[in-house]
Amino acid sequence: MWRDVTGIRKEWLSKEGAQRAGWIGVACLSVMLSVMLVACDARGTSEDGAAGSTKAAAAAANASGAQTQKVSSADSAAAVPAGGQTRAQVFESVRKMTAVGKQLFFDPSLSGSGKLACASCHSPQHAFGPPNALSVQLGGHDMRQQGLRAAPNIKYLQNVPAFTEHYHDSDDEGDESVDAGPTGGLMWDGRVNSAHAQARFPLTSSFEMGSNPRKVAAAVKAAPYADQFRYAFGQHVFDSDDATFKAVLQALEVFEQTPELFYPYSSKYDAYLAGKAQLTKAEMHGLQLFNDEKKGNCASCHLSQRALDGAPPAFTDFGLIAIGVPRNRALPANRDSHFYDLGACGPERTDLKGRDEYCGIFRTPTLRNVALRKTFFHNGIYHSLEDVVRFYAQRDTNPEKFYPVVKGKVQKFDDLPKKYWANLNTDPPFDRKPGDKPAMDESEIKDVVAFLKTLTDGYQPDAPEQHADAHIVSSK
Ligand code: HEC
Ligand code: HEC
Repeated sequence: MWRDVTGIRKEWLSKEGAQRAGWIGVACLSVMLSVMLVACDARGTSEDGAAGSTKAAAAAANASGAQTQKVSSADSAAAVPAGGQTRAQVFESVRKMTAVGKQLFFDPSLSGSGKLACASCHSPQHAFGPPNALSVQLGGHDMRQQGLRAAPNIKYLQNVPAFTEHYHDSDDEGDESVDAGPTGGLMWDGRVNSAHAQARFPLTSSFEMGSNPRKVAAAVKAAPYADQFRYAFGQHVFDSDDATFKAVLQALEVFEQTPELFYPYSSKYDAYLAGKAQLTKAEMHGLQLFNDEKKGNCASCHLSQRALDGAPPAFTDFGLIAIGVPRNRALPANRDSHFYDLGACGPERTDLKGRDEYCGIFRTPTLRNVALRKTFFHNGIYHSLEDVVRFYAQRDTNPEKFYPVVKGKVQKFDDLPKKYWANLNTDPPFDRKPGDKPAMDESEIKDVVAFLKTLTDGYQPDAPEQHADAHIVSSK
C-alpha cells in the first residue's frame, strides 16, 4: 500500500507549482484569511474550541462559492489588518502552511509502521476517500489492524457545523424554529469538532497510523521538508515535541481547506445548476426521484437545492440519523455478538454514553463524489450504489434481502439492539411494510444511480462521453 502512496505523493507534490498558479487569488484570499484567524485562535484555545473554526470554515466556503465575495482586489485587501497581520501576510502564511500540510498528508513516515499516510486511506484520486473496496482499511503497527468504520471521503467538510444536540437552521425548511435534532461534528458519529483535533485520531489510533506526538515530531525533523516546516511555523516549532505535533495538526487542517482540492464544486450537477450543462433523460429522472417526497425522498436528508443564500447544495443536512444499516459480519469487532457500533452513543464516542436516544445514529454523509467510492455506509457493508439505493427502496418491503433470515424469520435491524429501535427513521421511503410496493422499482433505482454519478467533481463539458446519450433533457 505504501508504494501507492509514494507514487501518488510524487505526482501530487510535483503539481504544486501549477496548482498555486491556478489559484483564484481573490476568492482564496478570504478563504485563507478565515483559515488563518482560526489557526491563530487555535493557538490560544483548547484543542476542541471548534465552534469558531467551523464558522470560519463556513465563511471560507461561501467565499469560494463566490456568492458573497466582499474582497474586491488583492491590493485593497493588503491594506486591511486582520488579527495583527495584513491580508498579504496572512495569505503568505497560509500558503506556506498549505504546502507543508500537503507534504505531511502524503508522508507515510509519520505512521508507526512507516507505511501509512493520510493519503493511503484518503486518496486524492478518489475524492480523498479509500482507493479500494475494503469495508474498513488496514493499518496499525503491522498494517493488518482493522477499525470499525469505512474511511469517508474528506471533501466538502468545510461547512460541517460543530456538533450540537439541537440544530436550528434557517436554510433548512426556511424556519429557524424547527429543531433538526443532533447535527454536525466530524467522524461518522460527530465526535470531533475541527480538522486539527480530528487529525490527532488517525495519527495516534492503534488501528490506523499507530504513532504518537514524539514519533511524529521526530519524523518531521528528519523529513526532507523540515526546513520548509520551520519556515512556515517559525524558529521555535522544533523546541518541543508538543509544539511540533500541534503545528502538524494545524498544517493538515489548513491543507484540508484548500478550496480547489477539497471543495471545487465542479460536478456536472453544479454545471447544470448554473445552466451550463444538460442532464440526460436518466439523470433528470433520477434527480426527480431523488427529490420526490413519495419516491426516494433522498433530498430530505441529502439536500439537493441551493441554500437560501445561493450556496451550492451540500447533499447533506449534517443530521445524525439511524437508518438501520445491516450488521457487517466481516468486521473483526463484530465476531463478538455482544458488540455493537452504536454511533453517537458509543463506544467510539464517549460523551453521549448512556443516552439511549442517540444509539444507532450516524452523520448523514455528503453524496458529492459518492460514485468514486467502492464502499458504502459507516460499516462499509455495501459495495455498489445500486445496492445502497435498493436498501432504501426495499428495507421495509423486502427486509429478507438485507438482513439474515434465521429459521424462516428475518432478523431485521440486526446491528441495533431492539431497545433502540424507536430511534430508527420511518419517513418515506422507510414508511412501508412487507407486501407493500417498494418506493422505487429496478429501473428507477438505476436512474437514481445515474443521477448520483453527476455529483462527481471534474466535469468537463466537452468530454466525448457527455454527448453519447442521445436523449438530452434541457435544464430549463
Ligand atoms: C487507516 C485508514 C486511515 C488513515 C491512515 C487516515 N484516516 Fe482519516 N478516517 C478514517 C476513518 C475510518 C474515518 C472515520 C472514523 C470514524 O468515524 O470513527 C476517518 C475520518 C477522517 C476525517 C473526518 C471525516 C468526516 O466525514 O467527518 C478526516 C478529516 C480525516 N479522517 C482526515 C485524516 C487525516 C488528516 C489523516 C492523516 C493524519 C487521516 N485521516 C488518516 C481512516 C483513515
Ligand atoms: C432520513 C435521512 C436520509 C434519507 C431520507 C436518505 N439518506 Fe442516505 N444516508 C443517511 C445517513 C444517516 C447515512 C449514513 C448511514 C450509516 O452509515 O449508518 C446515509 C448514507 C448514504 C449513502 C452512503 C454514502 C457513503 O459515503 O457511504 C448513500 C449512497 C446514500 N445515503 C444515498 C441516499 C439515497 C439515494 C437516498 C434516497 C433513496 C437517501 N440516501 C435517503 C440519511 C438519509
